[in-house]
Amino acid sequence: MTVFELIWKRRTIRRFRQEKIPVDLLTAIVDTGRIAPSASNLQPLEFIMVDDEDLLPQIFVNTRWAGYLPNDEGRPPKGQEPTAFIVILVNIDIAGNWAGHDVGAAGENMILAALSEGIGSCWIASVNAKAVSRILKIPQNYRIDSVIAMGYPNEQPVSEPMRDSIEYYKDESGVLHVPKRQLDDILHHNQF
Ligand SMILES: Cc1cc2nc3c(=O)[nH]c(=O)nc-3n(C[C@H](O)[C@H](O)[C@H](O)COP(=O)(O)O)c2cc1C
Repeated sequence: MTVFELIWKRRTIRRFRQEKIPVDLLTAIVDTGRIAPSASNLQPLEFIMVDDEDLLPQIFVNTRWAGYLPNDEGRPPKGQEPTAFIVILVNIDIAGNWAGHDVGAAGENMILAALSEGIGSCWIASVNAKAVSRILKIPQNYRIDSVIAMGYPNEQPVSEPMRDSIEYYKDESGVLHVPKRQLDDILHHNQF
């Protein structure tokens, strides 16, 4: 698959098959985050891979899913939870003003690398950082930026041109639709 095809194929996944991601593959995915561009090459990011059976539910309960869907419908139901989390940490002793951009670059690298191996993901900023820091014994000079939930996909969301609302929704068959602003509305050529 070309990089273009991979990017077009990617959708946030919130339903997962209960099949473990091999730890070597998870490690290789994190390695694509390590090698991402970094402002001033400071490289303030570190990562925790979580795939331990006892820890997974503890992280899961401290994440929030699909805020636009009613009745917590976007939260993975029992038996379809993520099988791994990658916690993205910022070392505040190293970070400059652009650490957030570094997170973006590293996160997308990892998401696309995972997808190239058939793994779906959901980037989660709505995380109870205090609780997760305690559970994972994260030192005080690190802050949790976000986590990426991963697993083999058990749903096939679709994107569609945005009309009146940016809010994603589920149709009668339970398929998630993700409205995207259209190219004509966001692309300017030479002048605004
Ligand atoms: C930085 C960031 C934080 C996000 N946080 C959450 C989150 O806390 N919970 C969640 O369910 N989805 C979260 N998402 C996923 C977005 O809801 C999703 O990307 C958006 O609806 C567009 O869907 P798509 O990824 O399929 O294009 C986050 C995405 C990004 C980039």
